[in-house]
Amino acid sequence: MKKTIFSGIKPTGIPTLGSFLGAITHWDKLSAQYNCLYCVVDLHAITIRQDPAVLRDNGRNLLAWLIALGLDPERNVLYFQSHVPAHAELGWILNCYTYVGELNRMTQFKDKSAKNAENINAGLYTYPVLQTADIVLFQANLVPIGDDQRQHLELCRDVAGRFNKIYGDIFTIPEAFVPPVGARIMGLQNPTDKMSKSDETSGDCIYLSDASDVIIKKFKKAVTDSDSQIRVAEDKPGISNLLTIYACMTGKTLSESEADFEGKGYGHFKQTVGEVVAENLRPYQQEHARLMADNTYLDKVAAEGAKKAAELAAPTLAKVKQAIGFN
Ligand code: TYM
Repeated sequence: MKKTIFSGIKPTGIPTLGSFLGAITHWDKLSAQYNCLYCVVDLHAITIRQDPAVLRDNGRNLLAWLIALGLDPERNVLYFQSHVPAHAELGWILNCYTYVGELNRMTQFKDKSAKNAENINAGLYTYPVLQTADIVLFQANLVPIGDDQRQHLELCRDVAGRFNKIYGDIFTIPEAFVPPVGARIMGLQNPTDKMSKSDETSGDCIYLSDASDVIIKKFKKAVTDSDSQIRVAEDKPGISNLLTIYACMTGKTLSESEADFEGKGYGHFKQTVGEVVAENLRPYQQEHARLMADNTYLDKVAAEGAKKAAELAAPTLAKVKQAIGFN
């Protein structure tokens, strides 16, 4: 029997080069070997206050991006989390099997509450429990994610393991799939912080929809360091990040990427990385624009995906309810 993959992405803005290289770009390659579900996690998105019209647009846009980036809806289940009530139902149940002490340790909660001091809501706090439910609902074996989601996956494994200990083998314990290169793409202006769509600093983040000239301009302005060597090193976060992006985009190793720029200056290096990124994204951008003009198709993908996901989720939820003792 084929194993199962689940991953999710928040519709909180245009996807970034970080989520593309850390996660989405690997998703497509897995669909030959696994049953794959990729979810637009709108329930997660509302842990930060959203404008309804913008959230609706972002969700649609993200679904179109997933398809444009190569996830064929015939081979992958693509859907909106809010269309499948089992996520919220299992999320509630697992809240009762997760300790406050565990949630207190979540670094993303700490970061996000610092950034949203006026809206530290309970959903933001229990977010990792819903994420746990997303994964175990489908008995997922593998969860392809970037480095920032490792801690949430560890919590998922702990909670699922605890549930199994009480009730027998109900859930598959998932493994994280974190890519060896690109798992943590950093900001272009703050290369010690991850590239993130919530970061408003101008030029820090590459959005997948950025025009080629904008992309190249952002790379040209990327922060480097005072020496002139183009190599990966801990004390050269800016250069290391650019080399990582170049390696991911070209499929080369980091040392091959270093060799490509031997003897070259930072100006040439940054321009080339920008051009490579812009060129690689262009066909995806064109496909995205085409899909966004086809509402009927997007609606059909979302409806079929939700139907399949609901069917796949039902047996596990039934098993959980039976085990707990619900009438
Ligand atoms: P989200 O929407 O923040 O990010 C989506 C995916 O992209 C990865 N990612 C990055 N990888 C490398 N460098 C970066 N700068 C970067 N930024 C983002 C993330 O690690 C993630 O894999 N909580 C999740 C969504 C989620 C989920 C799930 C994931 C909900 N339920 C179940 C896996 C399984 C999130 O906020 O991802």
